[in-house]
Amino acid sequence: MNQKVDLRKVKAEELKLIELDTVDINSEVPDFEPQRQYYFMAKCRQWVRKFEQKNGRLPSACVTNMGCQMNARDSEKLRGVLQEIGYAGTDSEDADFVIYNTCTVRENANLKVYGRLGVLHGYKKKNPDMKIALCGCMMQEPSMVEKLKKSYRFVDLVFGTHNLFKFAELLFTALASDRMIIDIWKDTDQIVEDLPIERKYPFKSGVNIMFGCNNFCSYCIVPYVRGRERSREPEDILRELRALAADGVTEVMLLGQNVNSYGKTLERPMTFAQLLREAEKTEGLSRIRFMTSHPKDLSDELIEVMAGSEKICRHLHLPLQSGSTRILKAMNRRYTKEQYVALAEKIRRAVPDIALTTDIIVGFPGETEEDFQETLEVVRTVRYDSAFTFLYSRRTGTPAAAMENQVPEDVMKDRFDRLLKEVQEISREMAERFTGTTQPVLAEERNRQMEGYVTGRLSYNHVVHFPGDASLIGKTVNVRLDECRGFYYMGHTV
Ligand code: SAH
Ligand code: SF4
Ligand code: F3S
Repeated sequence: MNQKVDLRKVKAEELKLIELDTVDINSEVPDFEPQRQYYFMAKCRQWVRKFEQKNGRLPSACVTNMGCQMNARDSEKLRGVLQEIGYAGTDSEDADFVIYNTCTVRENANLKVYGRLGVLHGYKKKNPDMKIALCGCMMQEPSMVEKLKKSYRFVDLVFGTHNLFKFAELLFTALASDRMIIDIWKDTDQIVEDLPIERKYPFKSGVNIMFGCNNFCSYCIVPYVRGRERSREPEDILRELRALAADGVTEVMLLGQNVNSYGKTLERPMTFAQLLREAEKTEGLSRIRFMTSHPKDLSDELIEVMAGSEKICRHLHLPLQSGSTRILKAMNRRYTKEQYVALAEKIRRAVPDIALTTDIIVGFPGETEEDFQETLEVVRTVRYDSAFTFLYSRRTGTPAAAMENQVPEDVMKDRFDRLLKEVQEISREMAERFTGTTQPVLAEERNRQMEGYVTGRLSYNHVVHFPGDASLIGKTVNVRLDECRGFYYMGHTV
């Protein structure tokens, strides 16, 4: 018999090279990470082999992400583990394993989950061996878990954001059990590196640079469900960038709730601008994006790095939330209307063609028509290339939820409609400034509506459709933007 591998003796960065079938699963379970998770992947792999013998096919798995870019990146980690184990990925929820990676930033994100669980229950009645799992931000709220325990007993596995790295171990436990497995951590300071990741796109990727958030904007639940801010070590991030580039990735998006405070908690502190300078040196990468920037922490050093960079995209997402200094104070955003506008102007001076985008909340408690008018005024002054607009959603446990004078729904909706009209008009006008120019475009996918067309993105983050075939996907090509149709362009390669 061949020599079996004892994972306790394998270095973290070499784990991905080990064939799971050769792992010695009779050795002691490693009590350190990530070796421990690879051990459980090997155990799950054995389960998959048995499933295959019995059913004559591989078990199928469907991962659904419901939240932000960080949630999407986490889903790629779940898919990475499932693929390593041997599951066949599918988009159909009528699968042997279904996992929802939930979001709870606004209430409607929440309601969606309960609706869809009902459908999953139907599938499970047909396929009793089906396993259903829930993870992500919503699971960090104790009331949600109580509700699942009481009314959704058919769910097999529930875990949160802090122990996502333990997915292989939890999955193994769930496969071997008929009970509902629940494992939620309140917080963590642990960051586990070197776990498998299955990217959605071969040519672009998100990269976490930090986790959690310490800002406690008074409306926001993220700090409660994602825990305290912690940065990854720069060496780990740069190593990941090099590995991605070697694997064909040309565009990366550096991810964090507030990237501008990157590095503050490191033993050897480093600024976000310094990290960008290092990231830029990665050979093979041609585009670097990042998200999200908090205006209060955006430094002159960062503006300087952006202005001088060939690789950093000409796009900055700078959430405004409100244009009223009074509301911004109640939101605990720690900048005034004037500071925000001055910052936007400073950025435009340094990088004149930059595309600015934003997030705005309408109907925060106590928002008056005057406050709302100030938001409109900032929108007209800054002139965003696009803006995500949200109706304020009351999140239990946040300071704003307990505030008096919540804004009535009809008032909120009326303001929302007026804001949307304004931002859309401005985006349309702003987009016109590139019409007739030729821009490098990263072709991302075949156009689903128009046969013979592909869709790509400019450095400015605008979308363009142009004639082309699948061979272009993942390549950067020069495209003339012939016509602007509001939020996107029609063009042709030159
Ligand atoms: N960390 C990022 C945003 C994360 S949440 C930042 O600081 O900008 C993404 C967006 O959701 C926020 O920018 C905000 O506009 C919106 N949002 C967060 N909580 C909300 C709530 N309770 N109601 C409505 N929108 C909310
Ligand atoms: Fe939420 Fe504010 Fe943190 Fe963004 S910075 S995640 S809005 S608390
Ligand atoms: Fe939602 Fe969690 Fe992201 S609440 S927006 S998935 S950090």
